[in-house]
Amino acid sequence: MDDINEIENSYRNAISSAASLGDLEKIRVKGLGKKGELTELMKSIGSMEEAERRSKAPKLNALKSRIIGEIEKKKELITEDEIKKSTNEEWLDISRPTRPSQNGKIHPISQVTDEVVEIFSDLGFSIAEGPQVESDWYNFDALNIPPEHPARQEFDTFYVNSNSDSESPPHVLRTHTSPVQIRHMEKKGGVPCRIIVPGKVFRSDYDQTHTPMFNQLEGLAIDEDLTMSHLKWTLEEFCSKFFEVPDLELRFRASHFPFTEPSAEVDIRCSWEDNILKLGQGDSWLEILGSGMVHPKVLSACNVDPNYFQGFAFGMGIDRLAMLKYGIPDLRSFFEGDVRWLDHYGFDPLDKPSIRSILS
Ligand code: DAH
Repeated sequence: MDDINEIENSYRNAISSAASLGDLEKIRVKGLGKKGELTELMKSIGSMEEAERRSKAPKLNALKSRIIGEIEKKKELITEDEIKKSTNEEWLDISRPTRPSQNGKIHPISQVTDEVVEIFSDLGFSIAEGPQVESDWYNFDALNIPPEHPARQEFDTFYVNSNSDSESPPHVLRTHTSPVQIRHMEKKGGVPCRIIVPGKVFRSDYDQTHTPMFNQLEGLAIDEDLTMSHLKWTLEEFCSKFFEVPDLELRFRASHFPFTEPSAEVDIRCSWEDNILKLGQGDSWLEILGSGMVHPKVLSACNVDPNYFQGFAFGMGIDRLAMLKYGIPDLRSFFEGDVRWLDHYGFDPLDKPSIRSILS
């Protein structure tokens, strides 16, 4: 009996002075764990004489449940204390401003590419792509620019090293997106078609309006009966939607490109007042693209019968469109990767392209 009292007192003392849930767990294991003091005592019941068992077993059982009860009570007390402590110490100032969050911006070239693609998609054009390292054939010959043609010199071409024993002309970094016309038309089922080709092109040139890499948009429509008037309507429709000026006036100026006949450069009506450009009004004209009816020799180079198919093509600089529409003065800044510049000229990712609102 004394034994039991002593054991109980020692556990009660230990439990009441436990300062944490960890201390309490240690006490539980010491008494009631697999090899705990009380567990061993309970085990000894089995080997007791009948009389001893009758008197001791209920006492031991009662002791065990009292100690379990004490541990549980203390556990609640400690948990309550811990909660009180943490609510006193930890607090949240809901009036504090949030941390500044860093939002990325959409680069004007990506924005303008999206806008342009969206307008042409509405007109039934789909996107085509081609390689940036191009063979001499696709970049020049197939587009009716033979080796001796002066247009080859105009392009400031980057040539790609070829093996010293190679007889064939070196590959080039494509100087325009026009080779994709060829790649598309020569495919099985390539014509009739309506495609646009946004992509990077390369020329060895560097000043305020030229960079060695820039972005172009090519357009090509081939069918049995397409004429210059379809070209004119398509470009008028595109320009007035893109520049958000209804009935924007275009001027088709006779020009020359080896891959189109007839060829035209297209200008939009504009005015310059105090160095500010206004599109759609005034007495000045601003050149924005080259275009024309696809040359029969180009169709033949793709095994498309020029007696049966005809169509139009056009090419423009995406970067130039961005500069004009969003008033960005220097082309070089597009590619400098200056985050402050992007912050100023970039677009909020959640902004809907403004074009949607015009179309709807
Ligand atoms: N490839 C021409 C250039 O880079 C642009 C161009 C002009 C493309 C007339 C065309 C076109 O498809 O018809 O300067």
